[in-house]
Amino acid sequence: MAKEEKGKFTGKLGYVLATAGSAVGLGNLWRFPYLTAKYGGGAFLFTYLILVIIFGFGLVLAETAIGRKTGKSSILAFGALSPKHAWIGIIPAIVPVLILPYYSVVGGWVVKYLFGFLSGDAAAMTQNGYFGGYVSQSMEPLVFFFIFFSLTTVIVLGGVEKGIERMSKILMPVLVLLTLLIVIYGLSQPGAIEGVKYFILPNFSEFNAKTVLAAMGQMFYSLSISMTILITYGSYMAKDIPMDTSVLQVELFDTGIAILSGLMIIPAVFVFANGDLSNLHAGPSLMFVTLPKVFASMKGGAFVGIVFFILTLFAALTSSVSLLESVTSIFMDKWNLTRKKSIAIILIFSIIVGSLSSLGFGALSTVHILSLSIFDFLDTITNSVMMPVAALLTCYFVSRVIGCDTISDEVKISSPFKMEKLFIFTITYVAPLCIIIVLVSSILQTVGILSV
Ligand code: PHE
Repeated sequence: MAKEEKGKFTGKLGYVLATAGSAVGLGNLWRFPYLTAKYGGGAFLFTYLILVIIFGFGLVLAETAIGRKTGKSSILAFGALSPKHAWIGIIPAIVPVLILPYYSVVGGWVVKYLFGFLSGDAAAMTQNGYFGGYVSQSMEPLVFFFIFFSLTTVIVLGGVEKGIERMSKILMPVLVLLTLLIVIYGLSQPGAIEGVKYFILPNFSEFNAKTVLAAMGQMFYSLSISMTILITYGSYMAKDIPMDTSVLQVELFDTGIAILSGLMIIPAVFVFANGDLSNLHAGPSLMFVTLPKVFASMKGGAFVGIVFFILTLFAALTSSVSLLESVTSIFMDKWNLTRKKSIAIILIFSIIVGSLSSLGFGALSTVHILSLSIFDFLDTITNSVMMPVAALLTCYFVSRVIGCDTISDEVKISSPFKMEKLFIFTITYVAPLCIIIVLVSSILQTVGILSV
């Protein structure tokens, strides 16, 4: 049987918007603002920017070049460059398989809140205990999870150009516009400027090793490093698209949206809570508990809520699409399946695992793996263990197995490589060292020895 072609992005814009679509997600919308508030405002921001430019650039570029050079997804890409090291592609290939189901459960919560705001139910959503009560139900969260997953599936069924690229070209500009709209509205509220100061001005008393560690972890997650996605999207990049400037633009987009999210959320919470930012620190509860209350307290808040959950849905959807596409691409490469058949298999697996993660908040709340709920287990094993290990192996592979020149040569096919020296230095020395620090600290955190 002839192998089904996977497709390619039609140009630089398609690549940049689709990859930025993967990078911009819940990590930008709630994780970045709360980390910045917690770890010293401008001090964290500055550290993050330095890390993104030096370290993030090297890793994103390396993965993209591996993808474009081989034209394959991670499961075969490493082996195509060095057959003896084909095994290195296995860990990153498993990561999106495990993230997709539980990420889609959160996507379902976003759809539910959007429906709630649209149908004028916002008041109910601001009641204490509403979110906890909602996620512990069995049926409704499953229905919304299916809805979110179906949206993701329809887009990926459309293929690279007609599905992913077309969606990104519509959703990403709209996402930027909607974010700007809320930022401008929020900043015009009395007292908001104090919140902006808190967000932007450096507070060095909060700056320490933990700041750097937190910035590093955030950079990994936010840039979709070691999730296979960058290799997959790199494999859809034509040889004439300049790679270094494309990667820089993706980073710029991702960081820009993270900063705008901070400006959208921190001043609003600051005004609402009279300067008390303790409720910024909580993860999902910031988005689903605190923010609905903040919106309810604003004039025109029902409308702001609708806009906010639309943009959050877009951000989550472009990320889940990149996950599903990466897994689909693995199935198509490895088992020579068609796009449709690959998606059908992933769908069955994801619905089972996603449903178990969702039920883990209620009916299955007594089920624990390594004393974590199903949802938290999947999140921890991927983010804290598999992704840093995969990143470390990628650095080893590039600097010690195939050589940095292999990556440089691929970059130079389409443009001069201005940051080549920096790239080689980072991938060979800085990145491995930083990843080992992140890995050890996240293991210590998981076993409860360190609290970050
Ligand atoms: N980069 C995304 C974010 O910042 C994280 C992510 C991407 C998660 C793709 C899953 C899939 O939220």
